[in-house]
Amino acid sequence: MKIGRTIENDYLLEMLGIVKRYPGVNALKGINFRVKRNTVHCLIGENGAGKSTLIKILTCAERMTQGKILLDNKPFLGKTVKDAMNAGISTVFQELNIIDQLTVEENLTLGREHQRGGILLRNAPDPSFAVLKEFAPDIPLKARVSTLSFAQKQVVEIVKAVSADAKIVIMDEPTAALSRVESEGLYDIIRKLKANGITIIYISHILDDIFSIGDYATVLRDGEIVGTRSVPQTERSELIRMMIGKVVQSKYLPVKGKTDTPLLRVRNLTTSMIRDFSFTLNKGEILGFYGLRGAGKSETARALFGLDKIISGSIEIENKPVSITSPRKAMRYGIAMVPEERLTEGLFMKLSVKDNIASSNYRGISHAGIANKKKTRDRVEKLVNELDVRIHSIEQQARTLSGGNQQKVVIGKCLNASPRLLILDEPTRGVDVGAKEEIYSIIRKLARENVSILVCSSEYDEIAALCDRVVLIAGGRIITTLSNAELDSQRVRMLTMNKGVMT
Ligand SMILES: Nc1ncnc2c1ncn2[C@@H]1O[C@H](COP(=O)(O)OP(=O)(O)OP(=O)(O)O)[C@@H](O)[C@H]1O
Ligand SMILES: [Mg+2]
Repeated sequence: MKIGRTIENDYLLEMLGIVKRYPGVNALKGINFRVKRNTVHCLIGENGAGKSTLIKILTCAERMTQGKILLDNKPFLGKTVKDAMNAGISTVFQELNIIDQLTVEENLTLGREHQRGGILLRNAPDPSFAVLKEFAPDIPLKARVSTLSFAQKQVVEIVKAVSADAKIVIMDEPTAALSRVESEGLYDIIRKLKANGITIIYISHILDDIFSIGDYATVLRDGEIVGTRSVPQTERSELIRMMIGKVVQSKYLPVKGKTDTPLLRVRNLTTSMIRDFSFTLNKGEILGFYGLRGAGKSETARALFGLDKIISGSIEIENKPVSITSPRKAMRYGIAMVPEERLTEGLFMKLSVKDNIASSNYRGISHAGIANKKKTRDRVEKLVNELDVRIHSIEQQARTLSGGNQQKVVIGKCLNASPRLLILDEPTRGVDVGAKEEIYSIIRKLARENVSILVCSSEYDEIAALCDRVVLIAGGRIITTLSNAELDSQRVRMLTMNKGVMT
């Protein structure tokens, strides 16, 4: 600290009286958000609460309707994303911004060449290389990004964000796509960032994240701040109550409709990613697939939905052999899937909620090839209500929905197809605690209606709350299958860890 400089307060960032209105929505209603220097400040709240909007205003990706921002006690008047970056505000986006075809090195220097007088000085090492070495010595500079795991790509993205002389690094749901072990790796990196004097704003729905690394947590609800707490001095239940106004607890409820009649029988299913998968799924049963990211859960789901090529093995539906070579065929057999990469595979961002949901119905609504508009609208309205999607109109474009509400639309789209077999890959990723329960009860209701459900999840609490039986997977192979009563978190984690990923 320079002598003579008086520190007026220890806030690095103050966002004061922030208002953001979208047509039809008051996304932020006059928020005062203050972040202390050199802390990890979590921003939490229900889907649609306004978290991402607040961040978009800070990064100048959206213009605020009203309000002011102080950075280091000085007004921050940036207008463009570049202005924000130059002021030391960096973001790690969930849809990673790095380019698969380039190497790590090229990605790290990309966009910064011009800062060196228009010539890329190949001999002078970019300062980001040292940062990479410190944070992730195992990632080679020359590696092509396409060969890295998602977690490693994210580290490259973080290094890139930090190397731009960041004071504040913002992370919007960074662990959503990470396994437990990978999340721990990210926590370490965040602790290192903090040790290097960086302040972090961290958005997440995962309470484990918040309690592992958070110093402060601010809860947003309906565009307003409910309160800010020091995390180490706060109970989980209190944060949940602040978020949704009540305490929820997921508990396994055996579903009544469960039968012993198989709908799906899979024998020795083998693809390039999984080997010899054999299992049955009964009518009205909820079967879980549990394992780390890359273990083979999504890969099985993808094979059953005709997205990945089946090398050998057989699939029977209602005792008849079927050949599923494309999603179209899978849908014809009554299979629907909520994919893991829902934002790229599950939604048409520019279409309305109505058109997205209606796009999946291949029987039922259309009569002589012409969709009945009123029927479509009624059906979509019904699904939107059942799923409690927070929107002001079903004509709203999917891209204007909050992340969690987009997820519910993808589920709505699948339900609209009235499937016999519903495959859900990480169904509540990015969904808030309250909405999670809503999604669980919808899944249970479907099972009661005799739909067979396959849930792939890397969240132990999720399979324990939801599944009648659980198939444990590691390294592209099935380890064992347990009934819900046999589940034990320690044992399950032990069995699915450290088996390596099949390459
Ligand atoms: N471009 C837009 N046009 C209209 N409304 C929008 C737009 N972007 C966001 N909204 C609305 O603003 C509100 C706040 O959304 P925001 O994305 O900030 O929520 P969030 O807290 O990040 O939720 P989630 O946890 O689901 O990601 C929502 O009602 C959303 O539909
Ligand atoms: Mg969001």
